[in-house]
Amino acid sequence: MTTNSLQELYVEQLQDLYSAEQQIIKALPKMIEASQSDELSSALKEHLEVTKKQANRIETICQELGEEPENEKCKGMEGALREGSDLVKDVAEEVRDAAIIAAAQRVEHYEMAGYGTARTYANLLGFEEAASMLEQTLEEEKEADQTLSDLAEELNVEALEAGRSAEGEETEQGTERGARAKKSASRGKRAA
Ligand SMILES: [Fe+2]
Repeated sequence: MTTNSLQELYVEQLQDLYSAEQQIIKALPKMIEASQSDELSSALKEHLEVTKKQANRIETICQELGEEPENEKCKGMEGALREGSDLVKDVAEEVRDAAIIAAAQRVEHYEMAGYGTARTYANLLGFEEAASMLEQTLEEEKEADQTLSDLAEELNVEALEAGRSAEGEETEQGTERGARAKKSASRGKRAA
């Protein structure tokens, strides 16, 4: 079927996002289970609850428009989640949290792109309330992404160091390099 108007495109974007959220709701418990760090698993648990509310918002917006939220399969999210679960399955325990963060941030950025577009369409079409609901979700996705970036600062360095000691490289030189990596990571944090 041809999409003829911006409103039809808007509805399709909403349905796509709804499918993405449903897939994330299914995938997050597996990521939570695979996490080693308590901080990472509680951040993901919190995001699971937020995600359920985000899906409800799309239901409300679609209801107002007299449209069904379930009509599309978000193939992009399906691919991102499959890639993430393959990655997490294939990594050693030492780097698993870093891999989970890498996968989760791809998902967040994909969602941010979709919500930014949908919010802009809602504004153009004069759906003010929907635009502010979509804006709220967009802000939540940005927050989740920032939380993951903050956790990555610590967990990526841990993965780096664990890899070194696993390789038996924990010589004095290696430790110095680790300390330098930690220093530059915290410099990065200050600059951000
Ligand atoms: Fe979401």
